[in-house]
Amino acid sequence: MKTRITDLLGIRYPIVEGGMQWVGRAELAAAVSNAGALGMVTARTLPTPDALCREIARTRALTHEPFGVNLTLSLLDQTQRYDDWVEAIVDSGVRIVETAGNNPQPVIARLKAHGITVIHKCTSVRHALSAQRLGVDIISIDGFEAAGHPGEDDVPLLVLLPAARRALCVPVIASGGIADGRAMAAALVLGADGVNMGTRFMLTQESAVHEHVKQTLLAASERDTVLIKRSLKRTARHFDNTLAREVLALERRPGGASHDELKHLLSGARGRSALETGDVGAGLITASQVIGLIDDLPTCAELVARMVSECRAALDAAHNLFGSNGIGNVK
Ligand SMILES: Cc1cc2nc3c(=O)[nH]c(=O)nc-3n(C[C@H](O)[C@H](O)[C@H](O)COP(=O)(O)O)c2cc1C
Repeated sequence: MKTRITDLLGIRYPIVEGGMQWVGRAELAAAVSNAGALGMVTARTLPTPDALCREIARTRALTHEPFGVNLTLSLLDQTQRYDDWVEAIVDSGVRIVETAGNNPQPVIARLKAHGITVIHKCTSVRHALSAQRLGVDIISIDGFEAAGHPGEDDVPLLVLLPAARRALCVPVIASGGIADGRAMAAALVLGADGVNMGTRFMLTQESAVHEHVKQTLLAASERDTVLIKRSLKRTARHFDNTLAREVLALERRPGGASHDELKHLLSGARGRSALETGDVGAGLITASQVIGLIDDLPTCAELVARMVSECRAALDAAHNLFGSNGIGNVK
């Protein structure tokens, strides 16, 4: 396939693995890249910039294809300066970075000075425009369906993507609620240059998430996610488990709950424990509404190949709606 992002990123198919804390490890990133898409190592999964360098080296040992590093700015420990993380990325020779979570301004100049291609992931056209002004190469736009932080505007991808496409000059990657080739076809038709997926790549053979978590999410429907932290203006979409309900109940009580009061429930360590031990209620599990459409655990190679052929079939079928002589055959 050929779109503006296959050229820019040097990949065969316009499919990107979004950054995923605790999930975006070397094995998964390499499997995605070896499948012809863009794998992504997630910096925030590693405790220090040095550990990130080692994870990048592990990824490089597993693939010769391009891969990126996700740098989630708001999640980085405030005591560790962004500079140290950028230095680790630059020194490791990484060519593609996905920034997310906050304005990329603190890191963009340094990344661009080293010729790194920057994908900035955001949730609104206004933030996309300001990132474009700062010089990012590609915008990844997360619709309301997305796992993680879908923003505060609640605009689904069907509206957000064409709105972003209309406003931006740089290539646009559609993100949120995409799990198969039909959705990919739809995104391309709406003007995307590619698609980004988190939840779908988490539910693959190569993802290190505990089997019980995978099976629980496979059994879930599109109604089984919940938005928490809305009262803190830091809305996050997670799998609807007892812990997420507990957070919501505290937020909804008279007077609400401060971040400090919720901190012990929101802790990253608890989320990690849930993903690694399979104790689904032990922590917050990030997942999108698209869990309702996912019912298998393919390898990344199977998934990417299937998506590409589904995408082609969907685009052919759409084309055939107009008949071979160009006259519509839909009565
Ligand atoms: C388990 C998990 C963890 C995530 N962690 C991060 C993260 O640390 N940084 C980030 O920018 N996005 C994170 N995301 C969001 C994804 O990169 C992507 O934007 C989102 O999953 C797209 O929606 P989808 O799940 O419907 O594909 C995470 C998603 C999942 C499923």
